[in-house]
Amino acid sequence: MMPERLHSVQVVPKGITMIKRSVAAIPSPPRRGTVKYARWVAEHCSAGDKVLNIGAGRNLSGALDPILHRDCFIVGIDPDDTVHENETLHERYQQSMEDFAEDHEGEFDLAFSVYVLEHVSQPESFVAACARVLQPGGKLFALTMNKYQYFGFITWAATRVGVSEWLLAKVKDRQRIEAYHFPTEYRLNSIPRLTRMLDDAGFDSVEFRCFDAPRTYQSYLPSRSRGVSNLYTKVVYASRLPWLMGHISFCAVRGGATTPATPPPDGR
Ligand SMILES: C[S@@+](CC[C@H](N)C(=O)[O-])C[C@H]1O[C@@H](n2cnc3c(N)ncnc32)[C@H](O)[C@@H]1O
Repeated sequence: MMPERLHSVQVVPKGITMIKRSVAAIPSPPRRGTVKYARWVAEHCSAGDKVLNIGAGRNLSGALDPILHRDCFIVGIDPDDTVHENETLHERYQQSMEDFAEDHEGEFDLAFSVYVLEHVSQPESFVAACARVLQPGGKLFALTMNKYQYFGFITWAATRVGVSEWLLAKVKDRQRIEAYHFPTEYRLNSIPRLTRMLDDAGFDSVEFRCFDAPRTYQSYLPSRSRGVSNLYTKVVYASRLPWLMGHISFCAVRGGATTPATPPPDGR
């Protein structure tokens, strides 16, 4: 997946620590965002790697075939009991990320999550736990919604004033909600906030790849708003504004990787 480079790499100063950050947009709205994201994750997986699927549930958001084909050892965790129905995992734990990290320090080459960050209630301890389970140089991937876009903003605002469940019941049928719904928190859902949290947790760099997927948002919106939603997508792509696109995905690299020592010059 080759993102269009819209912003060059920036260093974000914060106190005495720094994280290298790049922000880009995936060139056009993908038809299946989860598959596109899974391909990106898979590019960083090698056979035999130990990979953690955070908040795995039943993988209902989409098949993760590109990752599954890499012959990695996949561990899934989720506080919800649906993790026991997930057939793509080699090992599973019904635990939160925070609890799981206590006993699994530095065990994983890569960790990823799909539509989990918007449900996390304790953002600092969650991100710290993600860093803790990774080896130095290990990678954390996530796919989530952006608070600074109309769909994310409406959900964030409804969550803050306590009407998100009521609003959801107005736009989705009860059966669908019961089959696949978790309360929203929206505490890790913008590029600036994620950058700060990842920096605090000891990540060295983060690459954001954003996209806008109007069909996803439209399934929650009145049909007469479709034109506006399509127009919004055109504007953010034409104006090169990944910060205002509805979906955020990222790859962050944990610090602490040792650089191989430079070999001494010949004859010494
Ligand atoms: C919308 S579901 C996504 C499930 C799955 N990744 C998928 O794509 O179908 C969000 C999941 O995040 C899990 N979750 C929320 N907070 C979590 C935490 N602190 N640690 C691990 N999982 C968490 C929920 O239990 C839920 O299964």
